[in-house]
Amino acid sequence: GGKVVKAQIIYLTGFMGSGKTTIGEGLGKALGVTVVDTDKWIEEKEGKAIRELFSEKGEGFFRDLETEALQSISQTPQIITTGGGIILREDNVSIMKEKGIVINLKCEVEEIFQRLAGDQSRPLLQNKNKKEIETMYLERKKHYEQSADIIFDTSGKSIRKIIQELK
Ligand code: S3P
Repeated sequence: GGKVVKAQIIYLTGFMGSGKTTIGEGLGKALGVTVVDTDKWIEEKEGKAIRELFSEKGEGFFRDLETEALQSISQTPQIITTGGGIILREDNVSIMKEKGIVINLKCEVEEIFQRLAGDQSRPLLQNKNKKEIETMYLERKKHYEQSADIIFDTSGKSIRKIIQELK
């Protein structure tokens, strides 16, 4: 029999500020494939910013939409960049594993702090100090690791180098 090559979706996961969006876009250009971001998909569907969705409808409502995004986005070949909390639901992890390959962008917490300083767009970072963000990072670490097919360490690497290596 002939070989059946299943078109794979690449999912990029990682903590807020780990570079998913930037790396996803660069990788999409380099590979000539479509890039879809779950946060953007949700914002477009609802006509509201993530920040507004959290404050008006709550986190649970947003998390349901994340699952809906993963179920709905199916065009291939493509790269899907995800929100940092996508790995919190077992269902989401199952969908990603079934449809493609999950690459976790691992990043040191210090680098994340530097990138996220002053960010206003992420509801889960508002009113949190460094210690609290670090706690969240450590709580999620195992979820990122367990759900990943590949863990890619981005620490100290330029975007260009990262894309070169992933490509
Ligand atoms: C979230 C991360 C955000 C966004 C929302 C919740 C999280 O995406 O989905 O604010 O729970 O980590 P980014 O990882 O792109 O910042």
